[in-house]
Amino acid sequence: EKGGFDHFMLKEIYEQPRSIRDCMRGRINCEQGKIALGGIKEYAEKLKNVERIIIVACGTSWHAGLTGEYLIEEYSRIPVEVEYASEFRYRNPIITEKDVVVAISQSGETADTMAAIEIAKEKGATIFGICNVVGASIPRITHAGVYTHAGPEIGVASTKAFTAQVTVLTLMALYIAQQKGTLTTSKLTSLLTELNGIPEKIQAVLATNELIKNIAEKVKDSRNCLFLGRGSGFPVALEGALKLKEISYIHAEGYPAAEMKHGPIALIDKEMPVVFIATKNSSYEKVVSNIQEVKARKGIVIAIVTSGDREVEKMVDYCIEIPDADEAFLPLLATIPLQLLAYHIAVMRGCNVDQPRNLAKSVTVE
Ligand code: F6R
Repeated sequence: EKGGFDHFMLKEIYEQPRSIRDCMRGRINCEQGKIALGGIKEYAEKLKNVERIIIVACGTSWHAGLTGEYLIEEYSRIPVEVEYASEFRYRNPIITEKDVVVAISQSGETADTMAAIEIAKEKGATIFGICNVVGASIPRITHAGVYTHAGPEIGVASTKAFTAQVTVLTLMALYIAQQKGTLTTSKLTSLLTELNGIPEKIQAVLATNELIKNIAEKVKDSRNCLFLGRGSGFPVALEGALKLKEISYIHAEGYPAAEMKHGPIALIDKEMPVVFIATKNSSYEKVVSNIQEVKARKGIVIAIVTSGDREVEKMVDYCIEIPDADEAFLPLLATIPLQLLAYHIAVMRGCNVDQPRNLAKSVTVE
């Protein structure tokens, strides 16, 4: 049942080229630059005029929500707020019938996310779900939704469900842009063509597995670890830190790279691994200078870079190359090595990667 892999988590990490392909199937037409999302098509008009989108979720799904904020704001120019469902539900949130609330949940059973949906529904908002488990509770209480179609996820740590959520959010952002006309057909065509090529690029990232295993061997005894990224690399940093802490029990924190100097920099010494998302995009130069600041304090730097980058390679301890891609698609690629890094470290530390202590696959209590 593990398909020759030692753990479900590794199997599910390796399934991502296929799960993302399944998620896009029948939804994109690259030649015509068109997106079809059957589940929400009745709301196409609503989306065209919506003034605000609120995303609610927990854990890894909340991280997917942050990538959604970046994508939707970038392409459809609609303001997005991303809320922890648990905070949203207890805050007397300001919601009106004009709002669209998007609830993201792999299991479709998370108690806090369900409660957030009920509150938003009472206030008259339109609720969309992004769920993986077909027929779960959340898809039944939302007005409409888009399934991620990642297939069953057995490992408690979310991997392929996360990348499928990000894929759906990308499709949703482009779908809204298509309705609103904020992107030209030629731009849509080129973005969809690139999105369509992402599964193949993930295959190339998976080929770095042995290298990542070697890096894991070097840092597996660390007590703490920092993950830093900017822009669309920031949610990736949060997700990398969550994966590491939940399955290896190493204390890990994700931060926007520029926040480093407002506190976390005090932690850096020769024992501290710092993982940077340092791909060639709009914030590259700034991230490079953050790397220099960490090296000046003798931190151990692991950098996720765009293939062919020799500049960062010279500065850091370990480099993991990923294929070049539009900044919007960075989370789909840069998350993969962080999943593998967490996995190998946890295995080397003798942890139960598929069922980490104290965690359950679906959190049906608040
Ligand atoms: C982390 C993880 C959790 C879930 C969270 C929400 O790997 O799996 O943080 O993401 O419990 O669960 P869902 O998406 O089922 O609502």
